[in-house]
Amino acid sequence: MMKKIEEASSYIREKIEIPPDILIILGSGFSSFVDSMSDPITIDYKEIPHFPQPTVEGHRGKLVFGKIKDRSVMVMAGRYHLYEGHEPQTVVFPVYVSKQLGARGAIITNAAGAINPTYKPGEVILVRDVINFMFRNPLRGPNDERIGPRFPDMSSIADPEWVKKLKGKIDFKEGVYIGVLGPSYETPAEIKAFKKFGADLVGMSTVPEVIAAKHCGLKLIVFSCVTNMAAGITHGRLSHEEVVRTTKMVQGKIEKILKTAVEVF
Ligand code: HPA
Repeated sequence: MMKKIEEASSYIREKIEIPPDILIILGSGFSSFVDSMSDPITIDYKEIPHFPQPTVEGHRGKLVFGKIKDRSVMVMAGRYHLYEGHEPQTVVFPVYVSKQLGARGAIITNAAGAINPTYKPGEVILVRDVINFMFRNPLRGPNDERIGPRFPDMSSIADPEWVKKLKGKIDFKEGVYIGVLGPSYETPAEIKAFKKFGADLVGMSTVPEVIAAKHCGLKLIVFSCVTNMAAGITHGRLSHEEVVRTTKMVQGKIEKILKTAVEVF
């Protein structure tokens, strides 16, 4: 793994001028955020050694390096999901590459269904904690101590100081995100069970990247954009089209939050 991380990082280092300070992972449909960056340098995933190709609709599959509020960022426009068939180690590979390039923080975003009935589609929620219901862990197998410890602490997902600074500028709700494998949406019975677990949000991404970010010591903030009420919370069917439509509506909100999070880091 370390050799692959180094090879990918060396390739990227040749192309960029300033090393990134913060990694930003954009969820489905948030890719247009990169248009607001200054001095962008774009590298397609397919160019980078050991980066596989994402497949899902609405994901462009490129890394964009540039500045936001004078801070150097590495933005993933297009992420890997387990449901595409990728291995957990593959999904988190770019997280380790960002760390190798010099990143100290990571902001992860996703689209999620709301289990908590007080949430509404279009709201952006800070993920205070996660539940790994994917039955996969990217750290399974031999551990490389150069990357991180064998048994990383997961007791605080969101960096408390970062959250505090952000709260001084923006108001948001907090919740617990449960990560599922997908790609089928949940059944109402599953959502009922997840509610009993203490989950407020459900989605098919993020948890592997959170584990990797904690493993390699990146300061972390995670945001979920509520694209729909989860199955059975309101009547009606779930569709990818609905998720995409709501994502487009919240684009402005998520951009503002991302910029502020970068600014206060
Ligand atoms: N379930 C799982 N993943 C999701 C959902 C959902 O309701 N909405 C957006 N991503």
